[in-house]
Amino acid sequence: MGTSERLANRVAVVTGGSRGIGAAVAAALFAHGSRVVICGRSPEALARASEQARAAAPRTESPGEIDTVQTDVRDAGQAQQVIERAEQRFGGLDILVNNAGIGRFGEDLAAQSLDDWRAVVDTNLNGVFHCCRAAVPALRRRGGGWIINVSSLAGSHPFAGAAAYCASKAAVNALSTALMQEVRHEGIRVSCVAPGSVDTRFGGGPTADAGWKLAAGDVARTVIDLLRHDARSLPSYVEIRPARPRRK
Ligand SMILES: NC(=O)c1ccc[n+]([C@@H]2O[C@H](COP(=O)([O-])OP(=O)(O)OC[C@H]3O[C@@H](n4cnc5c(N)ncnc54)[C@H](OP(=O)(O)O)[C@@H]3O)[C@@H](O)[C@H]2O)c1
Repeated sequence: MGTSERLANRVAVVTGGSRGIGAAVAAALFAHGSRVVICGRSPEALARASEQARAAAPRTESPGEIDTVQTDVRDAGQAQQVIERAEQRFGGLDILVNNAGIGRFGEDLAAQSLDDWRAVVDTNLNGVFHCCRAAVPALRRRGGGWIINVSSLAGSHPFAGAAAYCASKAAVNALSTALMQEVRHEGIRVSCVAPGSVDTRFGGGPTADAGWKLAAGDVARTVIDLLRHDARSLPSYVEIRPARPRRK
């Protein structure tokens, strides 16, 4: 089977698919002929992302499909609904990309508000838990599939002023490894992708001098490579870094 054929007609849910890395992953899956449900909180951003994915995809005989669902992954019920939407609209679920995430940077832990701590942990960790818990039964009904969790280098390389973010991503790494061991014998492949700095609006918008950063498409390509990887082996944790980061 050709590499694109492997993704054609696959049903994917991409959380946080309305901007940045998630939008690039959704567009890449759509371009490979997958049927993609993207979710996020802003309906305007979702509409924009689906238009952009359609505009960017090559014209082929078997184009993908794209659907949007306004979802807050911090809410377990909404996470469940997005998985159900994929099953109802496209007949099942093959791929979950847990990408939705936020950062709060610059405050020392002692100065951090409870609201900020909770927002980061609820989105980056609990959101991944909610979506995985909803997706595993759906993937079992399909006889296998993929869960790809977008973590961060910050999970293994914590830094000051980012305790909540670093802790949430370290927890995602641990959750991913535990889940991978629970479900791999059922053909459900769980991988974690941990990027370094990516040029997106994450954390407040692109910097003036962002040329050294990864592009969202670089991370999307890594996700696509994981989905097309040979079935015998499982790259369970992949780091991707800017090749020439700014010197400190
Ligand atoms: N950019 C980087 O340098 C970098 C580096 C390493 C890892 N990452 C990780 O990559 C992922 C994507 O980041 P990005 O850079 O692409 O950020 P981004 O451009 O800010 O996009 C974040 C996406 O997540 C969605 N989102 C946020 N909170 C959500 C919630 N509660 N429920 C549903 N969707 C939600 C956003 O849509 P709404 O706001 O409309 O909900 C948006 O679609 C994150 O997990 C981040 O931690 C980023």
